[in-house]
Amino acid sequence: MYFQLFLFELLGLLLLLVLSLFAGRTASNLVFAPSATVLHKRSWRLMLWSVILTLILAEAFLCVLLMIEDYDAVFWKDRLFLHLPLAALPLTAVWAGSLPKLLKLRRKTASRTEVPPRPDLRGMAAEPGLVVPFRMTSVGAAAALYFTFVPALPFRWADVIVPLALYAAVWAALWTAHERRCLKAGDASFARRPRGVRALRAAAAAGAVLVVAGLGVFAAQASTRLPASMDMMAGVPDYGGGPVLAGHAHGGGAVTAAAGALTPVTELTGPRTGTPDRRFTLTAEQAAVRLSSGRTVQAWTFNGSIPGPELRMREGELVEVTLVNKDIEGGVTLHWHGLDVPNAEDGVAGATQNAVLPGQTHTYRFLAEQTGTFWYHTHQHSLEGVQKGLFGTLIVEPKEGLAEARDITAITHVWDDIGFAIGDHDTVQRESIAPGTQVRLRLINTDNWVRQKYTLTGVPFRVAAIDGVELNEPGLLTDTHLEVTTGGRYDLTFTMPETPVFLSVLGGKKIGILISPDGQGDIPAPAKNTKAFDPVNYGKPAATPFGLNTDYDREFTVVLDNKLGFYNGSLDFQYTMNGKLFPDSPMFMVREGDLVRTTIINRGAVDHPMHLHGHHVLVLSKNGKPVTGTPWWSDTLDVQPGDTYVVAFAANNPGIWMDHCHNLDHAAAGMSMHLMYEGVVTPFKMGIETVNHPE
Ligand code: C2O
Ligand code: CU
Repeated sequence: MYFQLFLFELLGLLLLLVLSLFAGRTASNLVFAPSATVLHKRSWRLMLWSVILTLILAEAFLCVLLMIEDYDAVFWKDRLFLHLPLAALPLTAVWAGSLPKLLKLRRKTASRTEVPPRPDLRGMAAEPGLVVPFRMTSVGAAAALYFTFVPALPFRWADVIVPLALYAAVWAALWTAHERRCLKAGDASFARRPRGVRALRAAAAAGAVLVVAGLGVFAAQASTRLPASMDMMAGVPDYGGGPVLAGHAHGGGAVTAAAGALTPVTELTGPRTGTPDRRFTLTAEQAAVRLSSGRTVQAWTFNGSIPGPELRMREGELVEVTLVNKDIEGGVTLHWHGLDVPNAEDGVAGATQNAVLPGQTHTYRFLAEQTGTFWYHTHQHSLEGVQKGLFGTLIVEPKEGLAEARDITAITHVWDDIGFAIGDHDTVQRESIAPGTQVRLRLINTDNWVRQKYTLTGVPFRVAAIDGVELNEPGLLTDTHLEVTTGGRYDLTFTMPETPVFLSVLGGKKIGILISPDGQGDIPAPAKNTKAFDPVNYGKPAATPFGLNTDYDREFTVVLDNKLGFYNGSLDFQYTMNGKLFPDSPMFMVREGDLVRTTIINRGAVDHPMHLHGHHVLVLSKNGKPVTGTPWWSDTLDVQPGDTYVVAFAANNPGIWMDHCHNLDHAAAGMSMHLMYEGVVTPFKMGIETVNHPE
C-alpha cells in the first residue's frame, strides 16, 4: 500500500508540473491576445486550468492523508510539511489572486469585440498577481519533486535552505519581471518581442542554468569520491542513546586508549589449536561449468563447480577451511552467511582480513555452534563475485543427527545470460523418495534480486526453520507460498506422500524439483492463489532472552530510503540509510553485553533484505504488530516498502560487523553500515588504493 501511495503522490506531482507549464504559458501570453473575444475565451480557459490543477494537487494530498492514516510520521511528515505546501502555496494564490482578476477580465470583455484589447485591458491581463501564481505552480511542483527525490530526512536546515531560498528567489524574480511588463502593457506601442529575440533570451537563460548546474555537478562529483584508503573504525558513531564509548578512531581521528586495552580483530579468532573434526579446502578458480540443460556458464567457482561444494558438518565440531585463490584477479574471501563465527573468521575484506589474492591462501577455523542452513560466499567484490558463482551451501546438522531421512537443498541463483537455476539445474530436477519418508527441503536464495517465490505443491508442509533457526511448534501449511529474500533461508519439512510433490521456483513448471516415489511422473501444476507465508503469527510462542518490554541499553533507528544524488563521483538513484551512504552511513556503537533494540523502517520504493553479520536478531514486531507465534530469529530480514520492524539482539560477539542490504547491487552502491564494539580496532584498510573492496 505504501508503495502505491508513494507512486501516486509522485505521479500527481509530475502531472501537476507538466500541466501547470501549459497553464503558465497561457497565463503569460494572455496579454498578447489579439482581440477582446480571444481574451474573454482565454480567461475562461485559465479558470478551467485552475480547477484541473487543484484537483491534481488534491489527489497528491489524498495520498498523503491515506499515509497519515496508516503509517508512522517518518513516512509522511516531509510530504505534509514540505512537498505539499510548496505546491499548494501558488495554487492558493491562483484562487485568491488570479481567479478574481480573471472574472473581472471576463466581465470587461463580455462584449466580445474583434478589435485588439484596449491598453487598460492588456494591463489587467499582464498583472503579476494574475500571471505569477500560475507560473509558480510549476516551480512549486518542481520543488516538491526535488524533495521527493532528495528527501529532507533526517531533517536538516542545511539541506533545505538552498532549495527554499531558490524557490523564494524565483517567485520574486517572476514577480518583478511581470510587474515591469505589466507597466509597459499599458503603452499604446506595447507589442510582443520578435521571435528571434525571445529565442535568444531563452537560450541565454538555459545557458545560465546549465553553467550553474554544471558547477554543482562538478562540486558534487569531487566531494563524493570515496577515500583512497580508510578503515572501518572511521565512521559516524551513533551510541543509540547509551553511554558514549571510547576506544575508537572517530571520523578518522587517532585511536584513543581511554577504554583501556584495545583488541585488534585479528585476535578475535576461533580456536587456533586442536585437531579439526572437519577439514575443507576451497579453491577459487575460473571455470566453464555446464548446467543441466547443457548450457555453459563462464563462472568463478570454488573447486570448479557452481555452486561450490556443500560444506556439511555436525554441531559442536571444530571446522577448518582453507581458501586457496588460483586465478581470481580481484581477490576472494569466505564469509559464512548466517553463521555467527568469531569476528576474525567472518571473511570481510578490509574489516577482518585482507582479500586473498591469486597464489595466496587463508585458513578459517571455527566451532559450528549453530545448527541449520547457511551459505558461504566471497565478501571481496561481493556483487561481482557472488553473481559469478563464488558461493555454496553450508549445513550444520544437530549433534544427534537429522530427524529427516532425506535432505534436499534448493539453492537458487540467476546466472548471467541463462537465468534461474537450482544448484546446477536450469531444468527441472528429479528426485525419488519412498512414500512415508521424512523430508527436509532447504531453500536458499543467493540472487541479487529481492525475494523469490517458491511454491510447494502436492503435500502439506511445515516451515521448520528460518535463517538457520528452528521454529517452535510450526503448524502444517497448505495453499501457502514462500517468499525467500536474497540471502535468506527457509527449511521446509514434510512426509513424502504416494503422489508427486513439486517445488516450483517462480511459480511455473520450468524451474523446480519434482519428487516422486520413482523420480518419474508428471509435474503437478503449482497451486494458484496461494498466500505468502508470514512468520509473524506462525507456530507457538516460547521463552526468549528479551522481548518488547525489556529495558534495552541502546536503541537504534535505521530509515531506508531512496535519493537522487552523487556517489563516488557519479549521479545515481541511491539507496540510503538514515539519508547516508557508506562511509557516511551510521556506525552503531555497542559495548559487549549490551542489549540492543533497532527499528528498521523502509520509506523507499524497493525491498531491502537487511543482513547483520555475527548476530541473529529477534524480530519483536512488524508494522506495530507484536510477533505472537514462534520466536522469529533472523539474519537476513526482508524489509519491504512501508515496513517497520522492531528487532533486538544481544551484543555478545565482539568485533566489527557489517550490516548491509543483501541486494548486493545496493550494498555496492553504498547501502552498508557497521556495528562496532567498544575497544575493537582493525589493522585492515579498504578503498581504491588498497586491495580490499568488501562490496
Ligand atoms: Cu551474505 Cu555481508 O553478506
Ligand atoms: Cu537494498
